[in-house]
Amino acid sequence: MPFSLPNQCPLQPVQLPWVTEAGCQLAMLRLDQLHPQVSGNKWFKLQPYIEQMQREGKRGLISLGGPHSNHLHALAGAAALGGFSVVALMRGPAQDTPTVNDLQQQGVTLHWLTREAYRQRQHAAFVAQWQQQYPDYVWVPEGGDGVLGQQGAGQIMPLLEASLAALDWAGCDALFTAVGTGTTWLGMQAQSKTPVWGLLAVPRHYLAATLRAEPQLVDAHRQGFGRVDDELLSFVNAFQCATGIPLDPVYTGKALMALRQMLRAGKFARGSRLVFIHTGGLQGTRATPNWPRLDEVAA
Ligand SMILES: Cc1ncc(COP(=O)(O)O)c(C=O)c1O
Repeated sequence: MPFSLPNQCPLQPVQLPWVTEAGCQLAMLRLDQLHPQVSGNKWFKLQPYIEQMQREGKRGLISLGGPHSNHLHALAGAAALGGFSVVALMRGPAQDTPTVNDLQQQGVTLHWLTREAYRQRQHAAFVAQWQQQYPDYVWVPEGGDGVLGQQGAGQIMPLLEASLAALDWAGCDALFTAVGTGTTWLGMQAQSKTPVWGLLAVPRHYLAATLRAEPQLVDAHRQGFGRVDDELLSFVNAFQCATGIPLDPVYTGKALMALRQMLRAGKFARGSRLVFIHTGGLQGTRATPNWPRLDEVAA
């Protein structure tokens, strides 16, 4: 199966006035460039589940998400690459979105659940019922969460170390990643000697109770998960024009805005070298019609 973790990724220095004013240097690990569909943190979180499927000789993976889910979109891409099947439990009501269309075109079996049924997703009985219906599929929790997802996300660290050497940075002083379930942050933190800051794209109460008081998780969601406001639009427009790096509305755009806030508040000593992990999610921009696209951004 032609599916293994990448061993190199661009680490792109980013020059911006708010970084220079804080006396810091910033680079972005461009995980968004790893693959057109299996981009960002997704490949890492999925890989251990794919390996489990292979070990157990199963047909595919079963997982769940909303109608714009980056996770399901990447899973469908991975299945197309790896030649396995996917069953997706969708948070209803049923709707047509660019993401759903892609899933359908890639042969994903969709089941639309009512919001009430979807709310049961963390209960053992819910999981058992679907596992019974699809015994040949490995269960992947929402967003690629779980111990396996964390282990996979930990593999971002060796990739980052290899990329730091290529940039000629002897190391870095702090890492930043957007947080949804916290899987990526936890996985990276477990493998990192450098502090990893998690920038919360979700309100804190969405997180597992054990994570809510973590001091290295910083609020970044602004007006709520997935909500876009004018200040975010203009920040992203300026960022994209200055760097040529595309951002998404739900995770990376908000996370970078929160990082700017931290720098303005003097959180990091002058001379600090900072690395932001670009976790992808760019397919999600299709659901935000007024999102500034890089090929159309106003200069
Ligand atoms: C683009 C993007 N960035 C960050 C995250 C957050 O990752 P996690 O759920 O592992 O915290 C997600 C969700 O998977 C995502 O799609």
